[in-house]
Amino acid sequence: MTIDLAAYAKENGVKYFMISFTDLFGGQRAKLVPARAIADMQEDGAGFAGFATWLDLTPAHPDMLAVPDPNAVIQLPWNKEIAWVPGNCVMEGEDVAQAPRNVLRRLIAEAAEEGMHVKTGIEAEFFLLTPEGDQISDPFDTAEKPCYDQQAMMRRLEVIREISDYMLELGWGAYQNDHEDANGQWEMNWDFDDALATADKHSFFKFMAKSVAEKHGFRATFMPKPVEGLTGNGCHAHISVWDAPGDKSKTNVFAAEPSDESQTSELGLSEKGRHFLGGIMKHASALAAITNPTVNSYKRINAPRTMSGATWAPNTVTWTGNNRTHMVRVPGPGRFELRLPDGAVNPYLLQAVIIAAGLSGVRSKADPGKRHDIDMYAEGHKVRGAPKLPLNMLDALREYDKDKGLKAAMGDEFSAAYLKMKHQEWNSFVTHFSQWEKDNTLDI
Ligand SMILES: Nc1ncnc2c1ncn2[C@@H]1O[C@H](COP(=O)(O)OP(=O)(O)O)[C@@H](O)[C@H]1O
Ligand SMILES: [Mg+2]
Repeated sequence: MTIDLAAYAKENGVKYFMISFTDLFGGQRAKLVPARAIADMQEDGAGFAGFATWLDLTPAHPDMLAVPDPNAVIQLPWNKEIAWVPGNCVMEGEDVAQAPRNVLRRLIAEAAEEGMHVKTGIEAEFFLLTPEGDQISDPFDTAEKPCYDQQAMMRRLEVIREISDYMLELGWGAYQNDHEDANGQWEMNWDFDDALATADKHSFFKFMAKSVAEKHGFRATFMPKPVEGLTGNGCHAHISVWDAPGDKSKTNVFAAEPSDESQTSELGLSEKGRHFLGGIMKHASALAAITNPTVNSYKRINAPRTMSGATWAPNTVTWTGNNRTHMVRVPGPGRFELRLPDGAVNPYLLQAVIIAAGLSGVRSKADPGKRHDIDMYAEGHKVRGAPKLPLNMLDALREYDKDKGLKAAMGDEFSAAYLKMKHQEWNSFVTHFSQWEKDNTLDI
C-alpha cells in the first residue's frame, strides 16, 4: 500500500519533508517542503532547475521534478518534525534516464524479469574529524594499531551510540559497531536488504552520520583516503540473489546445492552465484569508475602499506575464500563480498553496477577464473595474468568507456552523462596547480 504523506505528517507530527535526490557525483540535494504542500508534491514532485541538479542538464532544460517515493520515507530520529524522502527524477512525464536512483530501479526490474532479486549489505566506513576536516577529532586516538580500540570507542560513545540507537529505532537490524583500522575511523553494521532499500539506507546513513557528528561538534567523512598513511574508507558490499524481493524471499539462489562440483561450490556458491561473480570479475576494471569515483579513491586502492600494516584495499582483480586481501572474498556459503568500493561511491550507482555486471555474467555464463588462496599483500607478485585495477580516475574512466557491455547495461544515456561530467572533474583536477609540482620541479 502506498503511504499518503499528508496523512503520515498528521499521524507522526511531521512539519516538513526533505525531498531528496542523488546527483551523478553522489551528492544529495533536497528541497524542504512544509507538510501543507506535500499532497501536491507527492503527485507532481518538487521542482529543481535542471542545470543545477548535476545530472548533466543544461540551463535550457525544463524543470526537473523529484517525485517522492512515499514508501521510502524516514522520519529523522534526531529531529522528528522533519522527514526525509528520496525522490525519483522525472522531466516532462518521463524518468530522467541518467538519474542514479532511476538507473538502479531499471536494473532491478531487468533482473526481476529473469527471476533474480539482489540483496546486499554494505559496510560504510567513516572518520570522525574536527569541524575543519584537517585532524582526527580525538587527539588521544594515536595508537599504531587502533582497530577495535576499546578506550577510543568510549571517548566517542556519544556519537556512535546515538547513531546506533537511531538505526535500532528505524528497525534496520543494527548489530555491531567498532573502531576501525585507522585512527579516528568507525564502522557500523546493519542487516542486508533489497538493493534499493540498501541504497536508500546507505544514503540516509551518510546523512545521519554527518548530522549527528555535526551536532557533537565533529565532522564525519566518507572520503576514501582522508588521512595520508592511514587505512582508507572502504564501502564493501556483500551480495546474494534471492527468488523474490522483500519478505517474500525464501531461497537464496547463490547457495550451492550439494551436487555442485566447482571451485566456487566448495565455498558454498551456486552456479548462478559463480556466473554473477564471473561478471563482476570480467568488468572489474571498468566497474572501478563507479565504485571508486574520485581522484582520491586511487590513494586507497593500490596504496602502499599503511601505519597499521595493511591497507585492506585491493590492487588486483582476484577472488578467494575467507581472506580479506583480495578484491572478492567468499566469506561463507551463499554470498560474496566485493571489497573494491570506497566511501565516495554513489549509493545508487553502487547497487546498479553490481547488478549490471552480475546480470551480464549470468547471461554469458561467465567464469570467475581461478581462485587464489594466498595472502595478496605478501604474495600478489606471484599471480600471473590477473588484471591490475586502474591506477587513477582517468584510467578508470577510460576502462569504463572501453567496456561497451557494461556501458550499455548501465544505460547509454547514463554512461554518456557520467563520462562527460567525470571527465570535466578530471580536467579540473589536472589543471589545478599543486604544491607537489613546485616542490619537485621548480629547479629543473
Ligand atoms: N546472504 C547475504 N546477502 C547479502 N548480504 C549479506 C548476507 N549475509 C550477510 N550479509 C551482510 O553482509 C554485511 C557483513 O558485514 P560485516 O558483519 O561487517 O562483515 P565483515 O566485516 O566480516 O565483512 C552485513 O551488512 C550483513 O547483513
Ligand atoms: Mg565489517
